[in-house]
Amino acid sequence: MEKLVIRGGQPLQGSLPISASKNAALPLMAASLLAPGVTRLGNIPRLRDITTFSHVLRIAGAEVTRSGDGLEVDASRIFFPEAPYELVKKMRASFYMLGALLGRCGKARVSLPGGCAWGPRPVNLHIDGIKALGASIDLDEGYVVASSPGGRLDGGTFKLDPSSVGATVNILLAASTARGGSRIENAAIEPDVVVCCEMLQAMGARLGGVGTRTIEVEGVPLLRPAAFSNCPDRIELGTFMIAAAIAGIPGETVTLTRAHPGHLGEDFMEAFRQTGADCDIGANTVSVTAPEELTSVSITTGIYPGFPTDLQAQWSVLLACCPGTGSVTDTVYGDRFNHIPELARMGVRAQVSGNRVVVKGGTQLKGARVMSTDLRASVSLVLAGMVASGTTHVGRIYHLDRGYEKLEDKLSACGIDIRRERYDEFATPQRPDP
Ligand code: EPU
Repeated sequence: MEKLVIRGGQPLQGSLPISASKNAALPLMAASLLAPGVTRLGNIPRLRDITTFSHVLRIAGAEVTRSGDGLEVDASRIFFPEAPYELVKKMRASFYMLGALLGRCGKARVSLPGGCAWGPRPVNLHIDGIKALGASIDLDEGYVVASSPGGRLDGGTFKLDPSSVGATVNILLAASTARGGSRIENAAIEPDVVVCCEMLQAMGARLGGVGTRTIEVEGVPLLRPAAFSNCPDRIELGTFMIAAAIAGIPGETVTLTRAHPGHLGEDFMEAFRQTGADCDIGANTVSVTAPEELTSVSITTGIYPGFPTDLQAQWSVLLACCPGTGSVTDTVYGDRFNHIPELARMGVRAQVSGNRVVVKGGTQLKGARVMSTDLRASVSLVLAGMVASGTTHVGRIYHLDRGYEKLEDKLSACGIDIRRERYDEFATPQRPDP
């Protein structure tokens, strides 16, 4: 296994480029299956989740190849409309295959994802939404088996409650090639969904209300391949903004380039400014200047443009770096706090109660051996390691590799003492010689 070893206390300086978005790339890859022929996707990050999902597409019959900074997906022959358990359990977004395969082949057999690292993450809205379009659905040995009577879905209306990114994408994929029209109410308006809609439109889908809570879809028989460029990763941007605020030299600017700041949403930007960190927004850049002392700001996550749940673990580390007490309340995933016991090993004083964690800041964090439990938890441990005294070893970084491209290269180019090492997690500690 691999770990990151961070010698804390080095300031973050200079400029960091933002990679392409993982969570926006996955729906684009799924959408490419709807068009027979070669779709060219630009700006696709080199990440483990992209490799996993490429494999999912290949199982269905697509040819997926790296081409420069992007991918070419040849979906001329999609002959095996199935997404196997072995891959879906690794990455929940493989469930996008339900909508994509139904939309392309009129049938799909897709494994249910099961639980995730921080609790149950249901897919009831994906299934009910697709049923509302006219699909018949059965469960067989842990697989959702779906088919469209007559080979094409009829289309229909579905209201999401709560609003869901994944379910909106799945329903959109299935509805784009339905016989009739569809309407998604309380649709997600996260940038990942809007970007997916834009790609579907470039492929010939007829969509109305893109970026609003009600999306109308007029089905077309088939989509055509397109060339489409993905957007920058908003969660990586937020993560690096927090890194600059806690580990930057007060009064000196850290610049994040190739960014799309508008995708972060108002709530994050507002909370960030309230910490006292200066934040200068350009067209594709965000320049952050750390203050002499950060102010603790409590946040509550919410759907877009609310504070992203994918940035709450990182925010807890920021709170630990402020004098005073602040809290993080997660209304999207009420039990996403697996990082807290690991951060506690580094001296973070935090108490979880229900969907809220209260963090008492103002003490120097100390390096320790800690373990990643999921993608965002793992990056929060890296942030903590950057500001801790001594050395931090972040284990199980296969979680981190799912969603942060070349993290240690980017951080070490900006002054952070961080390196990747192999280790044996099951090695028995030895008693030192007397
Ligand atoms: N929900 C249901 N039923 C469903 C689907 C969702 O009740 O059928 C609930 C969820 O339990 C949650 C809320 O709806 O409370 C919103 O979940 P959503 O469906 O929007 O999440 P998702 O599509 O499964 C994506 C991201 C997550 C991110 C969430 C929220 C991808 C691949 N994943 O998940 O990203 O946390 O939206 O913004 O896009 C990450 O990148 O670390 C990550 C977990």
